[in-house]
Amino acid sequence: MAATILQGKEVAQSIRAELANEVAELKKQGIVPGLTVVIVGDDPASHSYVRGKAKGCEEVGITSEIMMKDADITEEELLVIIQQLNENPNVNGILVQLPLPAHISEHAVIEAIAPEKDVDGFHPISIGNMVLGNDTMLPCTPHGIIELIKRTGTQMAGKHAVVIGRSNIVGKPVSLLLQQENATVTMCHSRTQHLEEYTQKADILVVATGRAHMIGKEHVKPGAVVIDVGVNRIETGKLVGDVKFDEVKEVASFITPVPGGVGPMTITMLLKNTVTAAKKQAK
Ligand code: GUN
Repeated sequence: MAATILQGKEVAQSIRAELANEVAELKKQGIVPGLTVVIVGDDPASHSYVRGKAKGCEEVGITSEIMMKDADITEEELLVIIQQLNENPNVNGILVQLPLPAHISEHAVIEAIAPEKDVDGFHPISIGNMVLGNDTMLPCTPHGIIELIKRTGTQMAGKHAVVIGRSNIVGKPVSLLLQQENATVTMCHSRTQHLEEYTQKADILVVATGRAHMIGKEHVKPGAVVIDVGVNRIETGKLVGDVKFDEVKEVASFITPVPGGVGPMTITMLLKNTVTAAKKQAK
């Protein structure tokens, strides 16, 4: 039987509607959530992502500012900007779009963000709290993935989840969050041998490799929930995932499309983190 398509876009819309109501209520109490996004350089993909974030803010009533900086800005200048944003009470969330130019240390920049304004959930303190299972702002893509799986009605407890990819942004944190949902988690990556032996045993398969169409139906257990985090532009200009959608949808029980699956959830979780940050800072 063909899989149900997990329309992240629709789930994201319903969460955004809830957030819009919450923001309207907060505004009555004089709390106006604010997000500042800093983007360095002119990478078109990064600018497109940042526009999506600003549009999401507008949709739910969050005040947003995009600070565009030339690629030759120094690390010191960027750190001064972050310090100013840390001290600005109208800014509840700070996001520095990655990647940064090679002469700037991403590590130093992320560490400079006040943890309570770290709406990306990338600061070592946020990550440490996530590992410990403490209340913290979770990184947006992994959090969005967990929310999507929950909406399938799939019971994660006791299931075998296989994650392909071990990035700091997706693979590592999503593995941990799946484990916190009581799944049994296997992490695979580019050096894993006999990948299909793991993936064929996955009740939940999360693919975050950045390699177009690397997972086919031969990798997937019938009835699995398949979450495709990849966004790859192929020669034709088309955006495709890491999963061969057309064939895997014939064996999976649920599958996310690309685009329109995980992507819209990522921005929505950023909006949610910004509202959470505003509420905490108002206390
Ligand atoms: N670049 C690609 N994805 C992300 C993200 O989630 N946050 C930031 N800050 N930069 C990114």
